Amino acid sequence: MVTDTLDIKISKIENSRLAETDYGNLVFGQTFSDHMLVADYKNGQWQNFEILPYGELKLSPAISALHYGQAFFEGLKAYKLQNGQVSIFRPNKNAERFNKSAERLCMPQLPEDLFIQSIAALVEADRQWIPEQENHALYIRPFMFATEAALGVHPSSSYKFCVMTCPVGPYFSKYLKVKVETGYSRASDGGFGFAKAAGNYGGSLLPAKKAAEEGFDQIIWTDSREHAYVEELGAANIIFVLDGKLVTPSTRDTILKGVTRDSILELARSWNMPVEERRVAVAEVLDGIKTGKLTEAFGVGTAATITPIAEIGFEGKIYTLPDPAKAAIAAKLRRTLDDIKYGRTEDTNGWNYIV
Ligand code: PLP
Ligand code: COI
Repeated sequence: MVTDTLDIKISKIENSRLAETDYGNLVFGQTFSDHMLVADYKNGQWQNFEILPYGELKLSPAISALHYGQAFFEGLKAYKLQNGQVSIFRPNKNAERFNKSAERLCMPQLPEDLFIQSIAALVEADRQWIPEQENHALYIRPFMFATEAALGVHPSSSYKFCVMTCPVGPYFSKYLKVKVETGYSRASDGGFGFAKAAGNYGGSLLPAKKAAEEGFDQIIWTDSREHAYVEELGAANIIFVLDGKLVTPSTRDTILKGVTRDSILELARSWNMPVEERRVAVAEVLDGIKTGKLTEAFGVGTAATITPIAEIGFEGKIYTLPDPAKAAIAAKLRRTLDDIKYGRTEDTNGWNYIV
């Protein structure tokens, strides 16, 4: 809910880079729109909200974000609706998760209305950058990091909140070949897997690199105690269609509570499709592939959207799923969600925040 109007200083760019940007060849996260938003947390208060030309920040090498990892981010998207309006998909959910991450990393809360107004103002400033092609959107990356220049290990006394945006196409360009990870862990009980902490991604890079060397696109993370239960993918949650039911690992402190996952489960329930949020054993998944009970599996996330899985690797063996091109439930969910996001159907859930 928006309560007060946020005072944002706006300094617009002199020469937009839009005309020289090739929308036919966008690589995810490599093209940044003209402006960014920056705000400071000092003396216990958020202040100096400013939209300015996208560019470098001047920072001390001693800032604690760089040494002790007080840093986290969010990811959401803005869409050009069929009627020409601009909409951001469920920013209140990202605001909520932003503050859960902040709490776990001992960083300050940013009230939901400040989060949403900041993002909306930045999207408004770069509204011309929102792609109009199918499967494209303006990816929004809000983040917070500690800025106190001090090497003692303690919570920083100052922080920056920044937002930048990127016109993007699909994150994955093909069906996924994923590896069940049974050695490394992404998160452990009591840790901060549920937070969108920068460190969760840093720790995932070496296992992901090794998996890529074996020919896999992504890792299926498993629980850190037994490596017997499915948790999520590296950049998305995971959903299976088992015995005609939508089955997904229940969220816990090791799993990121995805907005896409939540939206999909809500849609499926509204269609009276059986939904199960529970522990999902790796053995059950592999067995389901062997017996034909598992008919679809897909990664779901803001960047990933809904991407079907074609093959699962486990302990040196490859398990092939039914042809993902015929994954009807994934396709129906994807179509329905896209119709809402691009304003082709009525937004009966109130998910689109019109800028
Ligand atoms: N899990 C991880 C580790 C992610 O990085 C993401 C992407 O944001 C997700 C799940 C999906 O979350 P969401 O649907 O909110 O984008
Ligand atoms: C997102 O979908 O927003 C993500 O965070 C994925 C990302 C790490 C590229």
